[in-house]
Amino acid sequence: MELTHRHRRLRINQTMRDLVAETSLSVKQLIVPLFIVEDSEKDLMIASMPGYQRIRISELEKELTELVKLNLKTVLLFVKALDETKDNTGKEAVNPQGLMQRAIRKIKAFDQSIIVMTDVALDPYSSYGHDGIVENNQIVNDPTVEVLMRMSVSHAEAGADVVAPSDMMDGRVKYIRKALDDKDFINTGILAYSAKYASCYYGPFRDALDSAPGFGDKKTYQMDFRNSAEAVKEALTDVDEGADMVMVKPAGAYLDIIHRVKQTVHVPVAAYQVSGEYAQIKAVAERGWLNEQHAMLESLMAIRRAGADVIATYFAKDFARLKL
Ligand code: PBG
Repeated sequence: MELTHRHRRLRINQTMRDLVAETSLSVKQLIVPLFIVEDSEKDLMIASMPGYQRIRISELEKELTELVKLNLKTVLLFVKALDETKDNTGKEAVNPQGLMQRAIRKIKAFDQSIIVMTDVALDPYSSYGHDGIVENNQIVNDPTVEVLMRMSVSHAEAGADVVAPSDMMDGRVKYIRKALDDKDFINTGILAYSAKYASCYYGPFRDALDSAPGFGDKKTYQMDFRNSAEAVKEALTDVDEGADMVMVKPAGAYLDIIHRVKQTVHVPVAAYQVSGEYAQIKAVAERGWLNEQHAMLESLMAIRRAGADVIATYFAKDFARLKL
């Protein structure tokens, strides 16, 4: 046959395919989420996240040693606060001796070059399990932002490199930037969860931290999954307010959003492959219905192909061990 184009030429073997591959992923582009718990925590297993464990603060160094060996040098910290510390003011969130603050100091003492990112939102500390302060069953914006400002400064004081507000309150990037600058933390960055959707895919994470909302849902602050222009608006607002990076979350079901945001902003775009995405792959693989490694790799590459510069994923260690 006389064919002008034989596309298969460039797929002839692995070397050729690697040569012309348009997308790549390096461990250097991965963010490792860590769930830190007090030493008194008895149960490290997370039923809905097989293979992923909570880490006791005294065992943090062991985990970090492993991560550094794998060249994974950026962590995103979440803590499981003790029940008795929870209230409706975020008091524990700004405690200099809080679990988060101790964890940050520990990591920085272990290896200064590890990039420590911290989750900024009230849900792990909230007696209501909401990301903000609750008044008359409403999550109130401005009083919450006031606490997030103090929380961010407290993380910066402990040594955090980047604060990552995941609360979806309006104006928080602007006021967190101002609070950091007022205290001379001019080099502390902000990774804004700009397009964070109200998603059922956070379920396993809420099991991990025992942070499920006590009433209602998060739909008055997290985004409606029917929308995409709104994600662009959120991202532009955050960049305008001083975000150094923006995030889209979840990732797998929101590749179009990642793509749109990447085309619009000129800061690095992060995507969060969330707990439910991880759980989904794990569960299907457990049944033998999909190959876990292949599903992991394909899902991560798809997120990169959509336009994510960096990816937060519970598969970070598994990916790093692949030795591609
Ligand atoms: C809390 C927060 C959540 C996640 C990250 N930060 C849960 C939520 O908003 O309910 C989800 C992460 C995941 O599912 O892996 N603000």
